[in-house]
Amino acid sequence: MEAAAQFVVESPDVVYSPEAIEAQYEYRTTSVSREDGVLKVHPAATRFTFRTARQVPRLGVMLVGWGGNNGSTLTAAVLANRLRLSWPTRTGRKEANYYGSLTQAGTVNLGLDAKGKEVFVPFHALLPMVSPDDLVFDGWDISSLNLAEAMRRAQVLDWGLQEQLWPHMETLRPRPSVYIPEFIAANQSGRADNLIPGTRAQQLEQIRRDIRDFRSSAGLDKVIVLWTANTERFCELVPGLNDTAENLLRTIQLGLEVSPSTLFAVASILEGCAFLNGSPQNTLVPGALELASQRRVFVGGDDFKSGQTKVKSVLVDFLISSGLKPMSIVSYNHLGNNDGQNLSAPSQFRSKEVSKSSVVDDMVQSNPVLYAPGEEPDHCVVIKYVPYVGDSKRAMDEYTSELMLGGTNTLVLHNTCEDSLLAAPIMLDLVLLTELCQRVSFCTDLDLEPQGFHPVLSLLGFLFKAPLAPTGSPVVNSLFRQRSCIENIFRACVGLPPQNHMLLEHKMERPCLKRVRPGATASPVSYKKELAPPAPDSCTGDAIGLPQDAIGHPQVHSA
Ligand SMILES: NC(=O)c1ccc[n+]([C@@H]2O[C@H](COP(=O)([O-])OP(=O)(O)OC[C@H]3O[C@@H](n4cnc5c(N)ncnc54)[C@H](O)[C@@H]3O)[C@@H](O)[C@H]2O)c1
Repeated sequence: MEAAAQFVVESPDVVYSPEAIEAQYEYRTTSVSREDGVLKVHPAATRFTFRTARQVPRLGVMLVGWGGNNGSTLTAAVLANRLRLSWPTRTGRKEANYYGSLTQAGTVNLGLDAKGKEVFVPFHALLPMVSPDDLVFDGWDISSLNLAEAMRRAQVLDWGLQEQLWPHMETLRPRPSVYIPEFIAANQSGRADNLIPGTRAQQLEQIRRDIRDFRSSAGLDKVIVLWTANTERFCELVPGLNDTAENLLRTIQLGLEVSPSTLFAVASILEGCAFLNGSPQNTLVPGALELASQRRVFVGGDDFKSGQTKVKSVLVDFLISSGLKPMSIVSYNHLGNNDGQNLSAPSQFRSKEVSKSSVVDDMVQSNPVLYAPGEEPDHCVVIKYVPYVGDSKRAMDEYTSELMLGGTNTLVLHNTCEDSLLAAPIMLDLVLLTELCQRVSFCTDLDLEPQGFHPVLSLLGFLFKAPLAPTGSPVVNSLFRQRSCIENIFRACVGLPPQNHMLLEHKMERPCLKRVRPGATASPVSYKKELAPPAPDSCTGDAIGLPQDAIGHPQVHSA
């Protein structure tokens, strides 16, 4: 069915005001205990009140590695869509779009219409979100090329599109950045001509000044920083060096070992800007996580989930949830872009290997019928640099599973992933979803004090290969569970039940479901407004009033 453009939830549990959407929501859970060898399962329900500020801010995005393939492609994509560009190709004219973006090209099922047909709206219509058209970009790169030249170097976009974008990209130039040669491959040294001089402490201060300068010169309400620079080697985790916020800040002052990406993370957190890590290395060392928690700033990571790993997190889920037993997962990649060249060095490859390796762990552990304790499939990942294929990465996978009665099933997959065209929409989603999360707060019937999401924004797991989660929280890799998590949390914010896919109304002998009378009026929900917390980011997204409809009337927000 064609995606509808707008909706309003008519329910006594949902109140739309000019400032916010407030929704009462019953979160139903089960807790499990083991007594005398028997599992006892206890259903429970907690009443939540979600509040989402409706005023979207003027949002700036700073990309570290702005002049790279991903950075230049994302910037080009947003400009091409904003300018409604089209260009000729050998298979006809193409128009700018956001295919591959959950928020811009994904949909959400609202329910059934009177004829029993499913009704869908664009994902971004669920809650007020910043429009990509309104994003303002800036960033840093150790390479001084302007964004037009960087776009040409990337060899990602058709020339007819590049020509039209050229005058718009030419004026964009990355700010100098921090280059510590030992963290990236030696083969990158040739492009490092745009550097911040000085000690680590001086470099940190310069990054912070850059963020402040961008925010004030572009008249922004908020800035989000996204690392899309080269994959670095892992940083050693050493007690006293980077294990606490205090030690990490001291390490920077003393000029001891800290990676450029961690330096950017610390600068962003200190400036109150969310920081997202699109590469696999351990940028968010324990000290950086503690700092984010102290400052109530969102952080997310690690490593964009764009190609092979995304397929793996679907395929292994399918196999194990169907009761088949994958025992061998072998993944080869060859790619010819600058990322591939950087990953041809052993310690940078190692970061990528680690990030790709744990993606099946939770699915294996979810099925003790198939896997004995400690048993796991062989899992091997190989990456080779093959310059000729450029940004058009090839990912080849072989999955061998055990079947009943001694059989085996082998799936072989050849996946041509145009790397940056897959990564750019994910980067867009990361920024838009993080910003939206900054405007959501909630309280429960057990704790009336409003709070925001945990600073480690694990809700973004759908978009990351090795999702960061708060300590002690389960790490979910299954793609559909990750997507349901985002969708259901945002549905809760507008008072809708989780998507359960039961479709019971179509599975009954006699229809006997309650239908709500159209036009039912909303009643107020209790929410301690005076205690509303600042957004978990000092760049606030709090509502400053919307002019449209009368207070208390359910408002329609358009797609
Ligand atoms: N599908 C994908 O493209 C994909 C998926 C997952 C992760 N990633 C990761 O995203 C990152 C970017 O990928 P890419 O294809 O754009 O790579 P790229 O090599 O084209 O771009 C990286 C850019 O970062 C710059 N850079 C390096 N160190 C820097 C520093 N300290 N400060 C500022 N700039 C610096 C480089 O000059 C380069 O322009 C890589 O780490 C890659 O592993 C990419």
